[in-house]
Amino acid sequence: MSSLANKHILLGVTGGIAAYKSADLIRRLQDLGAEVRVVMTSAAQEFITPLTLQALSGNPVHTSLLDPEAEAAMGHIQLARWADLILVAPASADFMARLAQGKGDDLLTTVCLASAATLALAPAMNQGMWRNPGTQANLQTLQARKVHIFGPADGSQACGDVGPGRMLEPVQIAIAAASLFQPGSLAGRKVVITAGPTREAIDPVRYISNYSSGKMGYALALAAAEAGARTFLISGPTNLAVPDRVTRIDVTNAQQMYDASLQEAPGCDLFIGAAAVADYRPVTIAAHKLKKTHSDQMTIELVKNPDIIAAVATLQPKPFTVGFAAESENLLTYARTKLQQKNLDLIVANNIATEGIGFDSDDNAVTLIDPNSEQELTQRSKQQLARDLIALLAERLPTQQ
Ligand code: C5P
Repeated sequence: MSSLANKHILLGVTGGIAAYKSADLIRRLQDLGAEVRVVMTSAAQEFITPLTLQALSGNPVHTSLLDPEAEAAMGHIQLARWADLILVAPASADFMARLAQGKGDDLLTTVCLASAATLALAPAMNQGMWRNPGTQANLQTLQARKVHIFGPADGSQACGDVGPGRMLEPVQIAIAAASLFQPGSLAGRKVVITAGPTREAIDPVRYISNYSSGKMGYALALAAAEAGARTFLISGPTNLAVPDRVTRIDVTNAQQMYDASLQEAPGCDLFIGAAAVADYRPVTIAAHKLKKTHSDQMTIELVKNPDIIAAVATLQPKPFTVGFAAESENLLTYARTKLQQKNLDLIVANNIATEGIGFDSDDNAVTLIDPNSEQELTQRSKQQLARDLIALLAERLPTQQ
């Protein structure tokens, strides 16, 4: 099955009658899971309005290199970095010539010059222009630079001619675009991840929490999204930015994390509990700030929080459920006990007593434990570990129905 899940496609539209098909192309790319942004040349705007393509893509259409307002919102370099694929459809003879010459005389050519993304063109022009030796020479130059060329098709043309130069149909272009990417190991999957600490309020200004930074859960969310999953990150308070292509649901305390998890987890393929959930919360939250008393001691009565991951593991059908065990002693024994008690499919054990790994650090080293085996993943960055972990988990998921 073709997929563009989570892919960023910058659609370049140049001037030609086939520009009207770009509207449908946006839809076909979205059908395959892509997010689409559009850059139009000034000639393209003679054939179709930016407003139409803005409404369909759901993003502002970029038309000018020298518009300070547009550059402030998302400049040409950001657009160049954002794209996984720049797809120019229709690509006119003039655009192919300018691209072949390495020109940067408008926004689209400049973005193409600046971007490391894969570049693909769907040429559309009169058959005589396509056959012209100048166009053919430009085509060869572009192909030698690894630019992908989709089409053109042969047939009757808007001008009445018959021959090569018709733009491929939007659905064919979308499928050709998808074929440029390897399908991600989690394409078509839904993944839910909890991350960060929870805060359990004592009074309006104080709370009980822990030192969890959320880095591991966020790294996992990014890796899952990169692997093509629809990824939901249920996050306690952290200082981290939402990873690209991830839907974040912000929560503060364990009960809210529980509610959000049981909202998102039913029907998901993989649930990863990377959050450091507070085990207990104050029985009551004081309505006003607690005052100091003459006594040297004070007692806060606590009550147990619901166990989120254990509740997820009771769902039918059960998502593949992965927990974390952060321990400072007897790591593997405690981790295996947790695996059984919470009915998890796998637990990731990490020793927080080891210098340089775990809670607030950038590195981690873990042991994966399932009912039948143990596998060690030695120290590496949390981002690398997350990618490795996601790749291993993807292999363990039951095949899709
Ligand atoms: O029991 P412990 O807190 O050590 O278990 C850790 C694992 O359980 C982690 O995956 C954590 O996210 C999850 N957990 C949970 N809800 C709780 C406590 C822990 O989901 N209330």
